Amino acid sequence: MPDRFDLPADFRWGAATAAYQIEGAADEDGRGPSVWDTFAARPGAVRDGHTGAVACDHYHRWPEDIALMQGLGLDGYRFSLAWPRIRPTGAGPVNPAGLAFYDRLVDALLGAGITPLPTLFHWDLPQALEDHGGWLNRDTAHRFADYTALVTDRLGDRVPTWITLNEPFVHTVFGYALGTHAPGRTLMFEALPAAHHQLLAHGLAASILHERGLEAMLSNNLTPVEPASQDPADLAAASAYDTLHNRLFTDPVLLGRYPDLSLLGVPDDIFGAVRPGDLDLIHTPGLDGLGLNFYNPTRVAAPTAPGLPFDLVDIPEAPHTAFGWPVVPDALTTLLLHLRDTYGKALPPLTITENGCSVDESTTPDQPRIDFMSAHLDALARATAEGIDVRGYYTWSLLDNFEWAEGYHQRFGLVHVDFATQHRTPKASYTWYRDLIAAHRLYRAR
Ligand code: FCB
Repeated sequence: MPDRFDLPADFRWGAATAAYQIEGAADEDGRGPSVWDTFAARPGAVRDGHTGAVACDHYHRWPEDIALMQGLGLDGYRFSLAWPRIRPTGAGPVNPAGLAFYDRLVDALLGAGITPLPTLFHWDLPQALEDHGGWLNRDTAHRFADYTALVTDRLGDRVPTWITLNEPFVHTVFGYALGTHAPGRTLMFEALPAAHHQLLAHGLAASILHERGLEAMLSNNLTPVEPASQDPADLAAASAYDTLHNRLFTDPVLLGRYPDLSLLGVPDDIFGAVRPGDLDLIHTPGLDGLGLNFYNPTRVAAPTAPGLPFDLVDIPEAPHTAFGWPVVPDALTTLLLHLRDTYGKALPPLTITENGCSVDESTTPDQPRIDFMSAHLDALARATAEGIDVRGYYTWSLLDNFEWAEGYHQRFGLVHVDFATQHRTPKASYTWYRDLIAAHRLYRAR
């Protein structure tokens, strides 16, 4: 059976982070407020009132963090740019200090032999844009295009590949439908115009990147959906959930059309948001890569109460992470084969842009993370052995960080961060990943 040592010779090894989760320095050097600053300040929004105001203080400690990446032997580092650091009100004047920060970071990464893989938007929308409706306002897509142009003017000479958005599914559903993430809106299915406008933003940004000879990717959170039984009601519920979580965010980009949204009771024009020509803008036939953020499969049953057309149920036979997420590595192979079957030639090369798990701080060494990563990498190798083109793996995350509504409680890092002192301590999984990267290189070079 193929395993992680059989991954392709030019496979890229990486780690991922996001601006609001690690940078801190929320009020420094002209950064404007983001929706996450506002949301985290709301009593009860984030566990124990934690905020990203300091986070890992990466804004000041980035040289130490790059040294940690170098110690791992990473090929690539996925991080995100904070739009409110670069353009504090989202549309007004540019903040030179914000651009200068990423300029230094990119140069230092390149100097360390690490390819930067920036994400333009990882959920920290400038609050000033949210005050005008955020992603519910179509204009935000155009502001995102402007921001893409100005950032690539500065960094495009050194950074060849860009991820437009991170997980528009999670941002739409948690941020605008359920209200458990910023900006904390509870619109249920009426949140879906926010999805359309993010997809439009992706399409506009991808054209700008392509016009400039740069590569465009999109990172989606994808989950294989399994019906709780073969009962037709469970099958219909599973199909509705697959439409919402996976197809709504992938079909328009790869196929140029939305899936059948009537399964969700949503009109085809997504409450008037979809205008003529939009799908041509969103459709990105030349997408250079699809990023997959994979954590777990989802089991779905027929609804037991009126409201949503599905119920999400546990997978009791699987082990669970500290976050309570089921661990089913085979589901990654299933997902990759399913993507090939669904999209065929329209499927661009794939990269795992996030995969990892939270482990309780008291579990030392953090063997559950080593087991999680090795099992998922083996599952990935089984898919590449079937001919699926997967180019790299960016584990979530380099550092323990601000895990959104969970604050600092869920620790996903290869490196432990003591948030009182900012002291970084590599965990057992750091050493394991370093040794795996080195061994894979040696093994493939033979
Ligand atoms: C993903 C997010 C990432 C991180 C992981 C655990 O949904 O993209 O920022 O929080 O989950």
